[in-house]
Amino acid sequence: METLNSATVPVQSAAEILARLPIRKVKELVGDEVFRDYIDTLSVDELDRLMYDWESWARPEQLEPPGSWSIWLYLAGRGSGKTRTGAEWIKSRVKRGKGRHIALISQSAADARDVMVEGEAGILAIYSDRDPNRPKYEPSKRRIVWPNGAQATIYTAEDPDQLRGPSHDTAWTDEIAAFRNVPDVWSNLMLGLRLGDSRCFISTTPRAIKFIKDLVAPGRTDVVISHGRTRDNFENLSTPFLNEIITKYEGTRLGRQELEAEILEDIEGALWSRSILDRNRVKEAPKEMVKIIVSIDPTVATAENATETGIIVMGKTADNHGYCLADRSLTASPLGWAKAGVQAYHDFSANKIVAEKNNGGEMVNLTIQTMAEKNRTTIVPVTLVWASRGKLIRAEPVAALDEQKKLHMVGSFPKLEDELCTYEGEGNSPNRLDAYVWAATELLVDRKFSRGLTWGRGNE
Ligand SMILES: Nc1ncnc2c1ncn2[C@@H]1O[C@H](COP(=O)(O)OP(=O)(O)O)[C@@H](O)[C@H]1O
Ligand SMILES: [Mg+2]
Repeated sequence: METLNSATVPVQSAAEILARLPIRKVKELVGDEVFRDYIDTLSVDELDRLMYDWESWARPEQLEPPGSWSIWLYLAGRGSGKTRTGAEWIKSRVKRGKGRHIALISQSAADARDVMVEGEAGILAIYSDRDPNRPKYEPSKRRIVWPNGAQATIYTAEDPDQLRGPSHDTAWTDEIAAFRNVPDVWSNLMLGLRLGDSRCFISTTPRAIKFIKDLVAPGRTDVVISHGRTRDNFENLSTPFLNEIITKYEGTRLGRQELEAEILEDIEGALWSRSILDRNRVKEAPKEMVKIIVSIDPTVATAENATETGIIVMGKTADNHGYCLADRSLTASPLGWAKAGVQAYHDFSANKIVAEKNNGGEMVNLTIQTMAEKNRTTIVPVTLVWASRGKLIRAEPVAALDEQKKLHMVGSFPKLEDELCTYEGEGNSPNRLDAYVWAATELLVDRKFSRGLTWGRGNE
């Protein structure tokens, strides 16, 4: 009888053992340094195989679930690997011949290009340059074409009607919960998703909107759900990115949504609720407005801490209802937000700009006039307002207007609405909320009730 000894059982080299393990495991086992040494021993082809073998990199929730579902919903935090999972799923559908006519849906053409197609986790990035199956991107035709004939067409939430005609067997929408018109996009997409075993992947940070709540409702046999948190993907995230989102969200309500991917229902203690905003929402603004204002809540941006300046456009009708028409908030220098504010003033033929002067004093008006001059050489009427008391006190009368059905979102403003529905009066200052409060106060709140506000003068 043969005995087992080192002569008859081939001793496997470390590299051989490692080669059979998922890469993620290997890294875990041997540590970064050894892993790097190991990589140094590989040939270019081996390296390619290793780098682009998604099955061995992916965490379980990032791989296609088994079963005959038609919708795969990946609800996960920022940076948790949603886009990468979508791109890899498309790659695998194409490889298996299941994805021939693919729809890629993003909020805007720029988002589709910069994230889904050319982004660091997008479709082009996950093929090696040497891979014969690598697709070609044809920007002018808004499509991606694979050597095996498969095609992906890019659609945007800004023009959902384009989704109506063509049929698809595969669809991927990225960050749909932040689209401004989810129901339109979704119904059009469903119309066209009718070929054979057609399937749709939805990768998104959750928001407690009807669309998401419907998908996660119990009893839906057509939907499978994966969950992920930002921290699950820490090892693959850059330090600046982590620092930025952690400072922004850690310990905040919104962080539970943005990092932990919780579906935040109405929050006790928050002044606004999703149900109230939904109830008051209108699809289009009334034609006749008696007054339109642009409201700006400027922030002093420092190099390491660039926060957003809230810019909200709101109109008032003769019956004293307010309509939120636009959210032009942005992260920018003073001249940058002044430019955006003046632009909004012109775009909506507004009557004036209202700006908070707590950050910047009279300079706020000066900055706006400088920009106005640069633009069209007309003076823009500006009212400067000064917040002398706490935010909550300023916000309460405005929240009351919402409760009384006197304030309406025209379409949806995901970021603004998130701020309204999660803010409890302390912590990071939400600038869109502030601008919203200033706008509604200026248009609709009787000044004797607007405690905590001092109305200064701009140039009026
Ligand atoms: N399982 C994984 N292994 C290695 N890198 C990953 C994995 N999942 C995601 N990544 C990388 O992490 C980064 C963030 O992923 P991304 O898909 O952009 O996150 P999200 O869309 O959720 O914000 C990207 O560089 C992506 O390629
Ligand atoms: Mg993404």
